[in-house]
Amino acid sequence: MANVAVIGAQWGDEGKGKVVDWLASRADIVVRFQGGHNAGHTLVVGDQTYKLSLLPSGLVRGKLGIIGNGVVVDPEALLAEIARVTAQGLTVTPETLRIAENAVLILPLHSALDRAREEARGERKIGTTGRGIGPAYEDKVARRAIRVCDLAEPQTLSDKLDELLLHHNTLLQGLGAAIFVKEDLLSRLLALAPLILPFAEPVWERLDAARRAGKRILFEGAQAVMLDVDHGTYPFVTSSNTVAATAAAGSGLGPASVGTVLGIAKAYTTRVGSGPFPTELNDAIGQLLGDRGYEFGTVTGRRRRCGWFDAVMVRQAVKVGGIQGLALTKLDVLDGLTELKICTGYRINGAHFRHLPAAQGAQAAAIAEYETMEGWSGSTRGARSWADLPAQAIKYVRRIEELVEAPVTLVSTSPERDDTILVKDPFES
Ligand code: IMP
Repeated sequence: MANVAVIGAQWGDEGKGKVVDWLASRADIVVRFQGGHNAGHTLVVGDQTYKLSLLPSGLVRGKLGIIGNGVVVDPEALLAEIARVTAQGLTVTPETLRIAENAVLILPLHSALDRAREEARGERKIGTTGRGIGPAYEDKVARRAIRVCDLAEPQTLSDKLDELLLHHNTLLQGLGAAIFVKEDLLSRLLALAPLILPFAEPVWERLDAARRAGKRILFEGAQAVMLDVDHGTYPFVTSSNTVAATAAAGSGLGPASVGTVLGIAKAYTTRVGSGPFPTELNDAIGQLLGDRGYEFGTVTGRRRRCGWFDAVMVRQAVKVGGIQGLALTKLDVLDGLTELKICTGYRINGAHFRHLPAAQGAQAAAIAEYETMEGWSGSTRGARSWADLPAQAIKYVRRIEELVEAPVTLVSTSPERDDTILVKDPFES
């Protein structure tokens, strides 16, 4: 039985929520494997809108949700999210949600450091979500992080807090921010322990058993390839690997278990936060895409920057992300535009590039080279088959396929779950 991993192919907010929700209804288990509550997935089911940050989307469909070891977990944010969706009628209990015992915890000092550092960066800020994601991953690789399993060992917690505070209070003080008191943090964590520990287990065992039993596992990526800490527009990235390969390491399964990799891309491009954006439109068309696409961050509420579809970037995401099929979302936002542009290369300091180089200066200097296509006058909104699409819209999708070197296996034409053209079911691949 094939498993499926879903990842973003641009800078996030590609409309993963709808696609993941559809796939979740066909899966047995949904696994988050990286990121934290910096992610924001909006799911519209019937008359309810669920805004999930940390919880795997499958919970909305009554499927077992797993938070893998690659995720950084803010226990207070998690409990608040559980309370919020419970009030909306969902059931989140240790029967429906499991958390890797070796997942790293985000503590209040992480978000304090995240925000203090961003402020100190001034003009050069990354535009993080301020939720402590980066500092928590830093502690993980520095081998001083507090993990879910530590909540069961008060002495370990106490010892680790000493080391953690030595590091963080020094930094916070240097940045002119308030410092943390060990006793406060310790009592806060000890109070959280009985609420979090019932969800904790070695999830790799459960996933291994599920894999052997032929269950369908859906790996739900957060952020996107161009925000990957290695492959993205560094340093304007998140602090985890967002490529599909992380689904294995971030959940405790082997690479062969990841299955089909579906990348999600909008029919245009958006980005929140700072960093290079070669196809950005600071004009009326950019404004129109933002208004029509309702481009506001789910987590931050910030208006997203908008631009033309960048086929160079998505092609790169296809290659490094291991994307085998592309789901194209929000095609309807382009309805009625007389002319569309697709970026097919960059000019950087006089030279031509067919990829985005890694150097920060080169990325900032990249000028998009475009191919222009005729737009379409009809509507694509709500289309459920190719026959419902204007001929020119089909041409646009086909051109994208050619340029990014991946087939478009799904087209989404409105936020409604059924307004989807399905070319190939990724679970059947
Ligand atoms: P961090 O993940 O909070 O450290 O933020 C680092 C960068 O990733 C910033 O530019 C954020 O705006 C961006 N980012 C983080 N999570 C998301 C997301 O879910 N969608 C889009 N951008 C994100």
